[in-house]
This record gives sequence, structure tokens and C-alpha cells, in this order.
Amino acid sequence: MDRIFSGIQPSGEIHIGNYVGAIRNWARLVERYECIYCVVDYHAITIEYEVELMQQRILETGTILVACGLTPERCIVFVQSHVPEHTELAWIFNCVTPVGELERMTQFKEKAKQHRQNINMGLLDYPVLQAADILIYKAGFVPVGEDQIQHVELAREIARKFNARFGNTFPEPQVILSDAPRILGTDGNAKMSKSMNNAIGLLEPPETIWERLRTAVTDVNRQRRSDPGNPDRCNIFTMHQAFSKPDQISYIDQNCRTAGIGCIECKEILFKNMMEELTPIQERVREIREKPGYMIDVLRSGANRCKAIVKEVMEEVRTKIGIKAFWV
Ligand code: TRP
Repeated sequence: MDRIFSGIQPSGEIHIGNYVGAIRNWARLVERYECIYCVVDYHAITIEYEVELMQQRILETGTILVACGLTPERCIVFVQSHVPEHTELAWIFNCVTPVGELERMTQFKEKAKQHRQNINMGLLDYPVLQAADILIYKAGFVPVGEDQIQHVELAREIARKFNARFGNTFPEPQVILSDAPRILGTDGNAKMSKSMNNAIGLLEPPETIWERLRTAVTDVNRQRRSDPGNPDRCNIFTMHQAFSKPDQISYIDQNCRTAGIGCIECKEILFKNMMEELTPIQERVREIREKPGYMIDVLRSGANRCKAIVKEVMEEVRTKIGIKAFWV
């Protein structure tokens, strides 16, 4: 069976954009692939973060993955730093990666702008660690959002460079793009992000989710109830596409265009469908939290399964690059 690898940062609260764009897709892929999903804590420390909150965020991110169906029976869930070989392979990859390639990365340039006081080596090297994450499992497919295509492309190039220099070792991984529509923030304008205060958290109680939906921006040209709206320009409609059934989506599409229904009514339908999907996830999160040892077991056994895989690959790599002494 083909192997899949993907990662998610343990930074802040996970929102419905992360869920629809990544996690929900990951849960579907477990049927057809051998899947490995990773909480990438070593990536998260490349920008300023709150040390005291990190452990809790790592655990919370893992809990959400499991609650969304990524259970240990179906796939591997683990924490990146628990398998230190990722960073070891990143070092080796550093030695075949041109600095110029890293300086060209869009995400690096954006983050360097946002974090001018702390443009550290880790931020520049971030895509190399990501390449190591993927290639250390010789994963063939990487389900990610569009913003990560460039990083996976770099992983392919690193695989090619390594293979050319040291002999065929790594397959070139391919992106699996989610077909989910891209949900914007509740401002209807920017990417959903906790720091922008325009996010709907996956674990938020129904009351605050409704409050965020109720006040969310719709088609800005629809001022009055009697104005016809344009679903193509409405972020609430995008959310319907992610959470509502096809017949409801076409009902809303038609009745928005003819002013048959108002925005509040439309939002109420969305809210109901959204909670139908989120409530069981929230319940499972509660159940998992009530069993204190459970997540520790999941993450420990996940890491152990990964360790077995990476041990062999790292032996192969060390041998190929000529640093494997027979007596160690
Ligand atoms: N950079 C990815 C993101 O921000 C997270 C990530 C780290 C990742 N390592 C990965 C994704 C390996 C896929 C494969 O979304």
C-alpha cells in the first residue's frame, strides 16, 4: 500500500479551515493508504511561541486528530520531536540543499516579513525539515493545502539531489490537493487565522460558533433582505459547500440569487449542519480528555511505530553517505 505523510503545527487553536482543508481529508485517506500524521513541534518553534503553552497545544492537536477519526487502529499519529531522526536527516539534507532555493520560498519571505526581529536559521531551514519528515518514511503522497506545494516541490528536488549524489534512495513525493473549497475568515476577506480573530474554532461551544456565524460577513453587495445575493462572493456559501448536502447547497444557491431566503436564515441552516458534524468530534475530544493516559499511549505507540521505520532508513542513509562505521 502507498504511504502518506502529512504534518500539522501545534500552534494555537485548530479552526474549521484547518479541519475542512486538511484533517477531514486526512481522515478519508486512511481507507486507501498507509497514513502517518505528525504534530510538527520542531516546525512550531521557528517563530515566537509561548513555552508554557506548548505541551498543552501538542497534546490538544493530537487529541483533535484522533477525535476526527485518525485513530491508532487506522493510522499513525505521533509527535515529530519524539522521533529525533527527522532532525538528523534534515541536517544531512542541509548538505545537498542550495541556500538560494530556501531564500526563494514564499512562506519564508512572508514569515520573515512578519517576524523581522527573529529571522532565525530554523525559519529558513523549515522546508528542509519538512522534506526530511516526508522522505524519512519514503512517503509517496503528501496531502496539503496549496500553500505547501512549493515545499513539497523542494522535497522532490532534495530527493533528486540526494539520489544523484549518493545513489537511488528516496522516491519523489507527490502532493494530494484537497478538493474542499477554501474557507475564509468570518470577515469574508482574510485567510482564517486565530491571530486575526476571524476564526471559528473546531472546539468552540455552539453559542459562540453561532455568534461568529451570525455576525460573519456575507456578500457585501447584499445590503437589504430584498436584495438578491451572489453566492459566488459569499464566504457563508463556501462554508455551505463544506458542510451542507448537495440538494441544500443548490437550494441556497437559487434562493440567495432570488432573495428567496435572507442571510440569517441561510446562516441558521449552515449552523445546524456544521454542528451536526462538529458535535460528535467535540464529544470525542471530551471523552479522550477524560482518559488521561489515553493520548500518551496513542502518541507513544505512534512514535514507536515510526522509530521502527526510520531506524532502517537512517542506516541506509548513513551507509550511503559514507559515515556508517561497522562498529557503531
Ligand atoms: N509546513 C506544513 C504546514 O504548515 C506542516 C508540515 C510540516 C508538513 N512537515 C510536513 C506538511 C510534512 C506535510 C508534510 O502546513
